[in-house]
Formats: sequence, structure tokens, C-alpha cells
Amino acid sequence: GDSDQINIAIDGPAGAGKSTVARMVAGHLGYVYIDTGAMYRAVTLSAQRLSITAEQDARLSDLLPALRIRLEPGERGQSIFVNDEDVTGLIRSREVTRQVSYFAASGVVREVLSTMQRELALQKGVVMDGRDIGTHVLPDAELKIFLTASVQERALRRFKELPSDQGVSLEQLEGEIAERDRLDEQRDISPLIQARDAIELDSSDMSIDEVVAAIVKLSRTKLAEA
Ligand code: DC
Repeated sequence: GDSDQINIAIDGPAGAGKSTVARMVAGHLGYVYIDTGAMYRAVTLSAQRLSITAEQDARLSDLLPALRIRLEPGERGQSIFVNDEDVTGLIRSREVTRQVSYFAASGVVREVLSTMQRELALQKGVVMDGRDIGTHVLPDAELKIFLTASVQERALRRFKELPSDQGVSLEQLEGEIAERDRLDEQRDISPLIQARDAIELDSSDMSIDEVVAAIVKLSRTKLAEA
């Protein structure tokens, strides 16, 4: 084809393995990986520090333009900076994780972040993971994947990732993941939903490498068509 790069959207629920898969696919293709969930988390952290709640539209509208959010590719994933402060670790706290769905339901927040995300994808050659990439942010993405896994499997994966002294039970994690799914699927603006033209991959019984290989293969097919 005449274009040598495509955009790839990877959407799906929390804990399906999107970020690992997206980063590895980007590595294989020499593309840029963009973790949009990290952007929602960075806004959540910044708001929490100022005691701004997800319902305070006016305060959020003031805050958002003041946040310079920068993503940098790194060895073990992506680093994220807000006004030059590295917040990569801080945005993974349980406090941010517990609140982020509320901020992600804010129209004010979604509008600003969607615009930033579209700009990042203008040059093509991005693998973007999130919840609304195929449906809303990049509706013209050449390849759309909807990556799922059972709640039990997703909770188990999170459980294994956590340090053993966190004091969280597997049951608690299952409950939190199910609740986050519910909030993400039922919000009014850009809810988590599979795009019509997305290919669904259920990773419950697949290894990471198998998922990555499947997506790389699909992207090579799309590239040949482009
Ligand atoms: O993928 P994650 O767990 O880091 O995402 C954090 C939250 O942000 C999640 O609850 C859903 C929300 N999110 C979103 O609404 N839209 C996106 N494109 C990415 C994330």
C-alpha cells in the first residue's frame, strides 16, 4: 500500500493485559505506545492533591489546561510526567485506582484528554490502549482490538502482581475489578463498549506472547491492505 504505518486501537476492561500487550506490539512494529489510562490516572492524582472532586467541572476546567502531561517510552513501559514531575509510580496507588473511574466519567476531563490523544496519533504508527479508542478517540484506526478476559482471571493476574504485604485478598480484587467494569461500562460519555469493527480477543486462556503474535499478524495483514 502507499501508507507505511497504521494506527492500532486496543480497548477492553481493566486487567485484560492491554498495556503489556500494547507495549509489546508497539515494540515489534517499531511503533509508539500510548497508555491513555495513565493520562486519566495523572489527572486523577493531580485533582486529588488539590482536593478537587470529579463533579467539580469549573475547578477541573481550570486545572486541566495547567497540566502538561508528557509520555515517554522507557525500557519497562512508559513513564508519565505532569509538569515535569515523574508520576509513573504515584498513579498506580490504590487511592488513584479507586477514584479514577469517577474522573474518567467527567465530560470535562474526557474532552481534553481525547483531544490530546488524537493529536498524538496524527502521525500514525501508534498503538493506543484504553476504553474508547476504537469507538471515540480514533474511530478510523486501521486495526481495532477488543481485549477481554474473565473477571476471575483478571483479578488473579493483578493479585500476582501485587507485593504480598498489600493486605488485599483475591476476593477483594475481584470485587474492585467488577465494580470498575460496571462504572466504565455504564457511564454516559464514551462508555467501555466494543466497536463494531473491532476484533475481540479473549485472553483468559492465552499467553501474553500468543496475544501479541495474533495482533502483530493482524496488523501485518492490515498494513498490506493499506
Ligand atoms: O487502564 P487503566 O486501568 O489504567 O485505566 C484507568 C481508568 O481510566 C479506568 O477506570 C478507565 C479509564 N479510562 C477511560 O475511561 N478511557 C480510556 N481511554 C482509558 C482509561
